[in-house]
Amino acid sequence: MSVDIADKLPSRKNPPSIGILRLGLLTLMLITPVALWLSTEGNPLDYMHYDLPPGQLLYVFSKLMGLYTVMFLWLQIMYGLVGKGNWVDALLPKWSIPTHRLIGILVMSAALTHFALFFSAVALRKQTIPVHLLVPDFSSYFHAVVTLGVISLYLMILVVLVGIYRSRLGKYWVWSHRLSVLMIIVVIAHSLLIGSETKSVTWLTFYAVAGTTLIAAIYRRIATTI
Ligand code: HEM
Repeated sequence: MSVDIADKLPSRKNPPSIGILRLGLLTLMLITPVALWLSTEGNPLDYMHYDLPPGQLLYVFSKLMGLYTVMFLWLQIMYGLVGKGNWVDALLPKWSIPTHRLIGILVMSAALTHFALFFSAVALRKQTIPVHLLVPDFSSYFHAVVTLGVISLYLMILVVLVGIYRSRLGKYWVWSHRLSVLMIIVVIAHSLLIGSETKSVTWLTFYAVAGTTLIAAIYRRIATTI
């Protein structure tokens, strides 16, 4: 079980300032998406005063939820790879299945809200129930990049189901759960190719930090498990 992998590493001693660093990191994670979104989309209350196309406000909020999904996803994958080795590990909560489950619920809720808001926006705009959004479609650039989002969502649901039914899947569940790495690659492609906030320096800096820490954590996990 993955619970044991972290236990194989030497136990860590947290410096006293680690609590402040943890709080700082959490605050940064919560504030960055909304601050970036407000700076590019403007005050959402202003939308009430203009005659906008139907569903526009839902569409704009959908973007915000997309940003939060990626932020929580990074936290979840880093947490899944957590060790006890150094101060970077200490920034994350101590490994436990309930915490992993809780962050998983956050990720899934944000992703489903992102999708539901976009789905509702299209429904209002086109006056139809856009079930076609759930079917992969590569007929144009826009459809192809939306499809990458749909594939990410399907992969996410699969990873969660594998996690829930792990006891029935025997030893193969860990490998299936590692589909999350493929999922994050598709998520990054979707968000960079379709997003507007994601092309900002702030978000690209976040991706650089997230990418580096993820690669380092995966490398360490492989090195300590072989
Ligand atoms: C795990 C699943 C998903 C994640 C993590 C995700 C993440 C993101 C992110 C970060 C953005 C960029 C926001 C911005 O910069 O504006 C975005 C944009 C977008 N996503 Fe997703 N997405 C996911 C699934 C989906 C699905 C299932 C759909 C639709 C069926 C979808 C449709 C869109 C659309 C239309 C945009 C463009 C918003 C814009 O115009 O900027 N996404 N997504």
